[in-house]
Amino acid sequence: MEQKEDLNKVFDIPFAKRTYLENSNSKLFLKLLLISPFLLLLFFFTGLRLIQNSKIISLNFLDKQIDNIPDHRILGHLPYPQISKEKLVVIEPHIEVHVDMRESLLKMREEAKKDGVYLVFLSGYRSIDLQNDIFYSLKSIRNQIASERARVSAPPGYSEHSTGFAIDIGDYMQRETDFEVDFENTDAFKWLQKNAAKYHFKLSFNKNNKHIDYEPWHWRYEGSVEALKIFENSNRKSK
Ligand code: DAL
Ligand code: ZN
Repeated sequence: MEQKEDLNKVFDIPFAKRTYLENSNSKLFLKLLLISPFLLLLFFFTGLRLIQNSKIISLNFLDKQIDNIPDHRILGHLPYPQISKEKLVVIEPHIEVHVDMRESLLKMREEAKKDGVYLVFLSGYRSIDLQNDIFYSLKSIRNQIASERARVSAPPGYSEHSTGFAIDIGDYMQRETDFEVDFENTDAFKWLQKNAAKYHFKLSFNKNNKHIDYEPWHWRYEGSVEALKIFENSNRKSK
């Protein structure tokens, strides 16, 4: 009899243990089941954050790589192609521009006139040969070295004017400010600052440019894909 009790004890202990374990296992399972949606959400958002971070890191890396690509600048000026003759139109005596920007440019002048502001076009398309003359003849007349001259004039092959998409603008009422920084105090400049973007014109050389002097009279057209492609490098580098 005593032996049987002993036997029961031997069997009962593992049985109790098993029952206890089974109970606690099922409790644990239940708990896991309850918190599993939260765990899933936690994993999901952590994964998402990791992916986003890795994307930001790789984009930053790409940006740095792009910034390091040599852009073939000379004395701070980017190279520009010379537009073909067929794409040029005369808008007034001695002023030719890219055909794509004619309408917008003339409309801008008309709208300015309605506001009592008289824009004058001073220089449009310039061939690489003409730019060559300007750069080298004026440089020697003024007894300037290339880097000094390049602050106010682009070397041949490096001027926005050769693309046909650049225009120098003056104020008809204050011609003494033509090609002068003082142009920024004219009504024409103030009007342009406020309205030029409507006609897709942008100031090319602002006060922040390290290599080229501020030119409030020099505007470029970015209202066509061709123009945007041409100025892509300049826009990217000036970010
Ligand atoms: N004056 C500008 C920089 C040019 O010559 O294109
Ligand atoms: Zn210019």
